[in-house]
Amino acid sequence: MKRLVIFSGAGMSAESGLKTFRDSGGLWEEYNIEEVATPEAWKDDPERVLNFYNLRRNQVLSASPNAAHRALVRLEELFHVDVITQNIDDLHERAGSSNVLHLHGEVMKARPENDPSQVFPISGDLNLGDLSEKGVQLRPHVVWFGEEVPAMARAIEVMRRANLVLIVGTSLNVYPAASLIHYAPKHIQCFVVDPDEVQAPELKNLRFIQAKASEGVPLLVDELMAQPVLKQG
Ligand code: OAD
Repeated sequence: MKRLVIFSGAGMSAESGLKTFRDSGGLWEEYNIEEVATPEAWKDDPERVLNFYNLRRNQVLSASPNAAHRALVRLEELFHVDVITQNIDDLHERAGSSNVLHLHGEVMKARPENDPSQVFPISGDLNLGDLSEKGVQLRPHVVWFGEEVPAMARAIEVMRRANLVLIVGTSLNVYPAASLIHYAPKHIQCFVVDPDEVQAPELKNLRFIQAKASEGVPLLVDELMAQPVLKQG
């Protein structure tokens, strides 16, 4: 089976009602990154950070996968599909995607602030005073600006083995995540679905589909599934 890698960002979940970050009206207009999404913010005002992610978690809980999430699942009939997402929501999983790698963590999980390996699922708010068994404050299992991206090494390996790449709803502004596209083999066919122009000059064989995810992705999926030459090998 050909290996198809999907690289998704906030635009993928926009039509599920979750805000993007850098569009007009996006989250980084409403909030200061330095106040809610850095280790320093956690040190200065953990309650503010917890509240920011509690709000994100509640919005994820009331959101559902959209037509784009669902369409991507169909590709698994014909391709080995890996989803690499920058999103902290679980909408790819809830749509039914089998292999999902979260570069920036998962808001539906928590961990003690001193131990990144003790990750467990949560469904409600995290508050100051919520402690691990060893008495350590819990934090959301997300990556903050200034922190390492532990899933990057695995994502690079996945990208290196890709036969096709589909990029959906990311401005490719945040590193190291955005650098992933450099690791895609040079000759392969890449697609970008985004309503706004996205700069990716390193992708030589790129087709840009200017559309919202819920429109562009299902059409592209139909097209890919109808091309036997892409499925072989
Ligand atoms: P951005 O907000 O930077 O970019 C969102 C992209 O989605 C833009 O290219 C939009 O044009 C596009 N978009 C908007 N609506 C869309 C729709 N309906 N369908 C498809 N695309 C649409 O979000 P990301 O690139 O995901 O990191 O941001 C990357 C990282 O920056 C996030 O993971 C987060 C953020 O700060 C951390 O918090 C560490």
